[in-house]
Formats: sequence, C-alpha cells, structure tokens
Amino acid sequence: MIEIPVELGARRYAVSIGHGVCGLLPEILSSFRGRRIVVVSNSRVWSLHGPRVEKPLRALGPLSRALVPDGERHKSRETLNALHDAFLDARLSRDGLVVAFGGGVVGDLAGFAAATYMRGLDWIVVPTTLLAMVDSAVGGKVGINHPRAKNLIGAFHQPGAVVADPALLATLPPRELRSGVYEVLKCGVLGDRALFKALQRAPQGLAGWERIDTENAIASACRIKAEVVEKDEREGGLRRVLNLGHTLGHALEAVTRYRRFTHGEAVGWGLVGAGWISRRRGLLSESAFDAVAGAVDHLGPRPRVSDLSPERILKAVGHDKKARGGRLTFVLPTGVGRVVVRDDVQPAEIERALEVMAAREALLG
Ligand SMILES: NC(=O)c1ccc[n+]([C@@H]2O[C@H](COP(=O)([O-])OP(=O)(O)OC[C@H]3O[C@@H](n4cnc5c(N)ncnc54)[C@H](O)[C@@H]3O)[C@@H](O)[C@H]2O)c1
Ligand SMILES: [Zn+2]
Repeated sequence: MIEIPVELGARRYAVSIGHGVCGLLPEILSSFRGRRIVVVSNSRVWSLHGPRVEKPLRALGPLSRALVPDGERHKSRETLNALHDAFLDARLSRDGLVVAFGGGVVGDLAGFAAATYMRGLDWIVVPTTLLAMVDSAVGGKVGINHPRAKNLIGAFHQPGAVVADPALLATLPPRELRSGVYEVLKCGVLGDRALFKALQRAPQGLAGWERIDTENAIASACRIKAEVVEKDEREGGLRRVLNLGHTLGHALEAVTRYRRFTHGEAVGWGLVGAGWISRRRGLLSESAFDAVAGAVDHLGPRPRVSDLSPERILKAVGHDKKARGGRLTFVLPTGVGRVVVRDDVQPAEIERALEVMAAREALLG
C-alpha cells in the first residue's frame, strides 16, 4: 500500500492506494471506530462492488446505506435533500461518519451533504473511478450543480481519509478509464517527468497495465494534487495550475452541451491546444510539444473537434473569463514537468490552436 499525506495542519489526512485496500478499511479508519456510518453510493457501483466495503465498514460501526441516482444531472439540490433525509433517518449526529463510495458525482454530493448537515460531519472517500482517485477525492472541493451553472453551490470540506483501491477500476468502461488517464497525464505535464514517461510507455488504451504501474501513476498524480492543495487550500492562486488543459477543455465540453466528450477527453484536447499556444510563443520546444501531443494521442481516440465552430468555442472560453473576474487565465506548459500561468492569451492564438487540433485529428484519421 502506498500512502500519500495531504499536509493541512489540523485537517491533515492520507490517501491510501493499493489493490485490495478496501479490505483494510477497518485498520485504515481505526480512528473512526464506533461511529454511526452512512455510506453514500449509487446502485450501479453498489451492485458491482458493494460487498467489498459493506463488511469492512460494518466492522467499524452501525451502517446504513443511501443510494443516489446515477449521472451528473443528479448532482442536484433534489438529491442533496434526499441525502439529508437519509442522514436523519439513520439518526446521524455530529459524531456520525459519511462514506462516499463512487465516482466524482457521488463524492461531490456526499461531501457537500456532509459539509452542510449539522454544520459539518466527518467524511471519507472511497473513490471508484480513476478520475475520482486522482482528482475529485483529494482537495476537499465538494458541491452540486445549479440548474443554471455547473458546480455553483459548494464548499471546501476536507475528507478525513481517502482510500483508493484500483481493483475497483476493472469494471470501469474504457472511456471512463481514459477520461481519468488524461487527468493523470495533465499531472505529468504539470510537474512530474517520470509520470509523463510512464504514460508514454503505457499500453495503448491502458489495457493490461501492470498493477504496480497503475498504483504508482495514481500515487504520483495524488502527490501533485496534494502538493498544490497544501500550498493553496482554497484556490487563492497556485491551485489554478491544476487547470492545465481545462480552459479549452471546458469550452469544448460547453459547446457540445457536455454530451460529446468525457471531461478527460476534453482535457486531452485542451493539453494539445495549450501546448500549441506555448510552442507558438516560443515557451515550449518543438520536441516537447511533439512529446505532449504524442502522449495525448497515444492514450487513445478522442471525439472530433474539427466540426466545432471556432466562434462558439471562443465565446465559451470568454465565459470562463467572466467567472474569473475579467481575466482569461491560461496555464501553459514550458517543458514536460513545468508550467506558467498567463492572462494575455489572444483570441487569434486560440483560433490557431483550434486549427492545429483539427489538423491533428485529420492526421490521426
Ligand atoms: N471536487 C473536485 O475537486 C472535482 C474534481 C474533478 C471533477 N469533479 C466532479 O466529478 C464528477 C465526474 O466524476 P467521474 O468522472 O468519476 O464521473 P461519475 O461519478 O459520473 O462516474 C462515471 C460513471 O461510472 C460509473 N462508475 C463509477 N465507478 C465505477 C466502477 N468502479 N465500475 C463501473 N462503473 C463505475 C458511475 O456510476 C457513472 O455512471 C463531475 O461532477 C465533476 O464536476 C470534482
Ligand atoms: Zn479536470
């Protein structure tokens, strides 16, 4: 088992990573023994993997289950209300414990329900998607969508522990797995050359990746996220570097109404775009750009971008800017493992990046 500490003073916790660690929940969570527990999951995850956590959690304390409907559209006020009802039904008090067992949707919902019930309950995360293991489970951002905006209602509420068992990923659909892998690649480009190199050598589509390689990749990505969160828990500034590939990625998701790309696929394209802008500015060498774009391509196919209107994408990028006080911030790689943040990227540079992305798509067939 690999342990990555997240050093946040009184709120410090660890991410425990390893095949089969679900079975070790009673030991890993021994400091929570005796608490009344509500495990939050959805019926898909629960039917596939419920038995892996049910018995170990029962060994810790009296257990109730709250299943939420599957899908991003249920990261809603209605589901939040239903969770608060379930906590009441289970007679959870201030010393109760909420366990999130699912992907990022379940994690964000359960964490926010825990943050808001009785002014804040302890919670732990057992993530079941790769994206949740390397991204959403670490850092304490929790929340729900508003009918008019994604992730608008939320809080910072750090979990007491994160337990990541890659054995759970065996049932994840390949596209969902790849979605997480692009976030791992982002971490490599952001600050970990060894991780980047490991992904360059990973089997195509990641089929048959060795256990130890998967564990190491998850640990490296968590370490990067933990380091950034430790320095900037509440997203004052530095935490923005985690948005590498996301300025364009979010725009691609928005103009296709979140239906065409998985989040990671959009970030994969966003990495190519940000890499190109950096290359064009002379911040990134040609060989480093080729390595980044080549790694994105190596990890598998992504839905097309060439038919999307550049005007609409530019408008969507501008939307991101409004959300950040009028300044459009771009995270630009300056090498494999290094980035800078710039707020002077011009529409013409973005348009050119979109052309290069479309040309790359044609090349890949
Ligand atoms: N809080 C944060 O810092 C943060 C960061 C990134 C993303 N997010 C949020 O995370 C969400 C996306 O998370 P996600 O990609 O995990 O999506 P998800 O939670 O919707 O899971 C994807 C699908 O996989 C299924 N699934 C989960 N685990 C499985 C398993 N082991 N086997 C088979 N199927 C499984 C789910 O039921 C779902 O249908 C978004 O709502 C996003 O806003 C939050
Ligand atoms: Zn992301």
